[in-house]
Parts: sequence; C-alpha cells; structure tokens
Amino acid sequence: MSPHTDTVRRPAPYAHPRPGLPAAVQVYEVGPRDGLQAEAAVVPTAVKADFCRRLVAAGVTAVELTSFVSPKWVPQLADAGELLAELDLPGDIRRVVLAPNRRGLDRALAAGATELAVFVSATETFAGKNLGTTVDGALESARPVVDGAAAHGLATRAYISMCFGDPWEGAVGTATVADLAERLIEMGVNSISLGDTIGVATPGHVHDLLDALFARGIRPETLAVHFHDTYGQALANVYAALTAGITEFDSAAGGLGRCPYAAGATGNLATEDLVWMLHGLGIATGIDLDALAATSRWMSTVLGRPGPSRVVRALAASTS
Ligand code: HMG
Ligand code: MG
Repeated sequence: MSPHTDTVRRPAPYAHPRPGLPAAVQVYEVGPRDGLQAEAAVVPTAVKADFCRRLVAAGVTAVELTSFVSPKWVPQLADAGELLAELDLPGDIRRVVLAPNRRGLDRALAAGATELAVFVSATETFAGKNLGTTVDGALESARPVVDGAAAHGLATRAYISMCFGDPWEGAVGTATVADLAERLIEMGVNSISLGDTIGVATPGHVHDLLDALFARGIRPETLAVHFHDTYGQALANVYAALTAGITEFDSAAGGLGRCPYAAGATGNLATEDLVWMLHGLGIATGIDLDALAATSRWMSTVLGRPGPSRVVRALAASTS
C-alpha cells in the first residue's frame, strides 16, 4: 500500500552509484575569480572575502580566489592583493590565484599566494584578445610563473582556453590542444585544466580530446575540465569526463562567470548543478548543497539578479 501524505519532503538527490566511477572527486570552485571577473559592478573586497569564507564553510576545499592580471584589463579584480591580505582561510584549503606573467607572479607572491594558475590559449585570436600576445607568447609569459612558483615550493595549474572551439576561428583540433598540453607539462606545470571558454563542447568531443591527451601519455590525474554552460552541455560533458577517469571539475557557485574577452561566453557550470549530479551518482564532494545554494542566493542579492543555476532555483522553490 503506498503511503499518502501532504508533507513535502526535502528533495534528494537519491544516490545511485555506477560501477567504475570514483568514490570522491575534487570540485574546484572558480566563483570568486571567473565568477566575478566580468560582472558589471565591482564587488567590494570585504564582500569577496565573505563569499570565499561562505564557500569554504559550505565544504568547498579548492577555491580560485582572484587574478593578478592587469587592473586595466580586469578592473573587477584589481583588489587581488587586498583580498589575500583580508582572507584567513584554513591551510588545508587549496587557494589558487591567476597570474599571467612575471609581474603577476611577483604581486601574487608578495600577497602570500600558495598556488598559482597560468592561462594560455589554443587559438591565436584568443591569445591576442585575452593576453595581447600569441600562443607562443602566452607560453613564454607563463614560464617565469611556473619556474618562480616551483622555486618557492608552490604548484602551478595551467588553463588551456578555447580547447573545443573559438568564436573567431571555429573548431579547435584535438592535436592542437594536445601539443600545447605537452609543452605545458614539459614546462613543469602540475596540472592542466581544459577550458571550454565559450561552452561549445559536447560529450563525444570531450572523449576525443581526452583520448588525444591520454595517447600522449598525459594521465587523467593531471587533468581537470572547465566547462562554461552556454549551450547547456556542461553536465553531460562532466559525465563524459568522469567516465574517462577525470576527477577534478571546475565550476562556479550559482553559475556565475565568463571571460570578458571571449565573445558569446556565459557562466560556468553551476557548482550546485555539478554537486547534485555527483551526489546522485554517490560520489562524495564534501560540499553541503543547502549551504552552498544559500551562499549563491546571498551572492544573487549582492549582484542584484538571480543566477542561472537550476538547482539553486529548485531548492529555493522547494523550501519556500
Ligand atoms: P598588455 O597591455 O598587452 O601588456 O597586457 P604589457 O606587458 O605591455 O603591460 C601593460 C601594463 O600592464 C603595464 O603597466 C604593465 O606593468 C601592466 P603600465 O606601464 O601601462 O602602467 N601589467 C600588469 N599589472 C598588474 N599585474 C600584471 C601585469 N602585467 C602587466 N600581471 C596582460 C598583458 C597579460 C597583462 C593583459 O593582457 C592581461 O592582464 N590579461 C588578462 C585578461 C584576463 O584576466 N582574462 C580573464 C582570465 S582568463 C579566463 O577567464 C579563461 C579561464 O577561465 C579558462 C577558460 O574559461 O577557458 C581561465
Ligand atoms: Mg573560464
């Protein structure tokens, strides 16, 4: 006999693990950096610090805090040094900052950075628009960051942007990305995040790219994936990457974010949407979904508009 009740239960996700998938993965939160770098309003430093603290309190264990880039290019993150001075996050939290060149490295080290991220482009046009240089020029700007970080005992993550397609050049070949990834590994980066900057990847393309990287001897543990959700494919792409052995996934609380220099780009995959799927697969993230969604709702009030995350919206509706 089925029980009838008018009491609405707190929604799950109900865990249904699949064989072959990992028991736990790393969710890499980019909300404070990718999420805020293209906002029309400049968020005050104290609010950014509060955002980072709330994310960590919700169980986030890897967070990209800010960028030490030119304040003329990205005024929204011009307070990078002040933010690091204000933040006192626990030492076991990965706290990563972007630095495109030696000047960025020097500023980041002076501010007490503990992990660096460099960023290069798979396409010449985006290297020009995002960094004012060429593909090779971006690699050469990244080199002193990687070397300088290593000299201080710090790890460097490398982003490759436009891994799947570029708004000006169209489809990007998997061999082009694999060549660049090999050069970054030779340079000494500790990991590579594959950026779908404009959200055009689809699951078959994700498998093809990962196969091309694995064929060069690059291990899944060295890779992360960074999907923007422009065409609603990000979760399907994460699932493809999961089945291929990837265990680090970039996302932004509430679905914030985009690169201001990438035409047509929209928000990152929302961390809540990612965590809902992962928990549904029985994969541990350490993240408290309700606390994270509450953080994103708070950030929506700061920014004055609702974010795109379906899970944040559904959880709010189910508890109101
Ligand atoms: P530039 O103007 O071509 O180069 O900028 P420059 O070397 O001639 O420098 C010009 C001025 O900037 C000089 O100052 C430098 O000192 C200063 P001035 O003499 O005019 O007073 N400068 C700096 N100041 C502070 N920090 C620095 C720095 N470097 C130079 N690090 C530059 C070249 C790389 C600086 C510029 O193009 C830049 O900052 N670009 C960053 C753009 C950016 O942040 N984009 C978003 C992040 S990437 C992204 O979102 C994609 C990702 O999410 C993955 C994905 O989705 O694919 C990671
Ligand atoms: Mg991005």
